[in-house]
Amino acid sequence: MSYLSYVMTMPGLETLAFGEVRARIADAELVKFSRGIALFRTDIAPAELLELRTAEDVFVALAHIKGLGPGRNALRAVHGATLNADVTQALTLWRRAHHGSLPRSWRVVSQKWGSHEFRRIDAGDSVGAALQRMLPRGMRQVKDDADIEFWIWISGSEAFIGVRLSDASMRHRNYKHEHLPASLRPTVAAAMSLLSRPTSDDVVLDPLCGAGTILIERALAEPYETLLGGDLRPEAVGMARRNARAANVDARIETWDARDLSLEPASVTRIITNLPFGKQIGTHEQNVKLYMDLVQEFQRILTPDGLLVALTSEDRLWETALRKHGWRVSKKVVLVVLGQPASIFVAARA
Ligand SMILES: C[S@@+](CC[C@H](N)C(=O)[O-])C[C@H]1O[C@@H](n2cnc3c(N)ncnc32)[C@H](O)[C@@H]1O
Repeated sequence: MSYLSYVMTMPGLETLAFGEVRARIADAELVKFSRGIALFRTDIAPAELLELRTAEDVFVALAHIKGLGPGRNALRAVHGATLNADVTQALTLWRRAHHGSLPRSWRVVSQKWGSHEFRRIDAGDSVGAALQRMLPRGMRQVKDDADIEFWIWISGSEAFIGVRLSDASMRHRNYKHEHLPASLRPTVAAAMSLLSRPTSDDVVLDPLCGAGTILIERALAEPYETLLGGDLRPEAVGMARRNARAANVDARIETWDARDLSLEPASVTRIITNLPFGKQIGTHEQNVKLYMDLVQEFQRILTPDGLLVALTSEDRLWETALRKHGWRVSKKVVLVVLGQPASIFVAARA
């Protein structure tokens, strides 16, 4: 038996998310990347993928349509593709992911990008009209709070129709009780943790830890030696400690200035951090000096073979600061964070 599935990710994290799929299911075969989507085939049911940490949602694919025109004819194609889909298999997979429970209500979620002669809602209605003919009688179509969701995603001439196997806890995480305004999405923190090439000997530091998302995601990904974090604001430190406790993660989190850390030279093997973007937190002018000071301090405390993984929207400033202090950037992943382009830089001391 082979299953066609896809994961939705933050745009920019598709490759990393598929890498995570591959690490769990070695025979997973990539079919296609689209913006924020990785479509693949596996021999193992996609319900096994609900533990993924870099994906926002997991779907069993009902249809992948290419060459969709901009006119209303596209709606007929969407309707036809839904009618042709194996809905019975999708329902079985959904039940497997939900401990055997029977879905009693369903709804269609529709997303659309690009210019077409029909509305997002029309595409959703086309899927809904087909499903009304296919789903068991006892299942009721509702507008909100459905047991099972059928999603249609259209971007230009391409469409994916699928059944969502995951629920909101996949992307929001149960530990994250408290948020700060610039708090990071857990899936992005998980991607940064992966990029740090985790090992069980790691002494991991997030010197600007905010609500603690990165430290927690690193702790949940792989074993480690020590987790250290801190923030300038005592309220952030309190929040990070409470979130870590809720996640059952043991971390030492302190109030400190990341430019002057109470840590021994060469005592940390991984720094993973989300820098102030200079918008919600700090300003561009402050970042000019802050980034230079941070790189200098990171140089002091990181082991010579250590890795620095940092997220910022101030690409140029961060690259300049790294270069000035002789760091080498081994990887840059471009993504969208809080609606703006940002990059994750993986750097090592040259
Ligand atoms: C972008 S936020 C980090 C958000 C965090 N990753 C989360 O998920 O909540 C940057 C954090 O850096 C902290 N910060 C700014 N300047 C700092 C400094 N000099 N030392 C330590 N923390 C600082 C801010 O208080 C803020 O919490």
